[in-house]
Amino acid sequence: MKVAPSIIAANFSQYQREIKAVEGAGADLLHLDVMDGVFVPNITFGPMIVEAIKDLTKLELDAHLMITHPEKYLKQFIDAGSGWLSFHCEATQNPSRCIDYMHERGVKAGLAINPDTPFGTVTEFMDRIDYLLIMTVNPGFYGQKFITGVLPKIEEAKNYIGRQKINCMVEVDGGINVENAARVCSAGADIIVAGAGVFKAKDYRKAIAELRCSRG
Ligand code: DX5
Ligand code: ZN
Repeated sequence: MKVAPSIIAANFSQYQREIKAVEGAGADLLHLDVMDGVFVPNITFGPMIVEAIKDLTKLELDAHLMITHPEKYLKQFIDAGSGWLSFHCEATQNPSRCIDYMHERGVKAGLAINPDTPFGTVTEFMDRIDYLLIMTVNPGFYGQKFITGVLPKIEEAKNYIGRQKINCMVEVDGGINVENAARVCSAGADIIVAGAGVFKAKDYRKAIAELRCSRG
């Protein structure tokens, strides 16, 4: 089980220090929430900041693109140093093209789905992606309440992966904390994203360790 702290919940005036702190505290990946103000009602940062972050850490960067027409920007995010990249199936007419391009460029290809999007929408892509990012809040803001109703979808995805014997990780993102992480893990998460769950904790190391060890 990997833990990917999301820097959206960090103190951005100190982001260098915050990134070093989670790296030192045992994070496995650094989750970067990219928002365009169109696909979601919030704006964060783009490839220039990703490039700056790349220079600050040895952690692999996991960019979560919450942007319309992701196909237009994949190149920039890959050039900026994201080794893991996910885009939303709701945001593009052509997920296949995005997946192919990411694989041509040698990065991990992730497909993200909103809480209301059924798993059936993405099954045709499952044998071609490296990870499925299942949202457990509506994307846009950190610190929201975990939507419990998404747990069966995590199980559905995990069972499908097992039955089809395909190699695809499940990343779960939104509202995860030490209280609900056990349920997320037992539903089948391989990677847990946590914004407030890490950056609003007093002790980052303890928070990451507790999230990682919480098996239901
Ligand atoms: C939501 C983002 C998440 C989220 C993580 O739009 O994709 O990565 O902000 O933060 P928490 O864990 O606080 O929900
Ligand atoms: Zn995210």
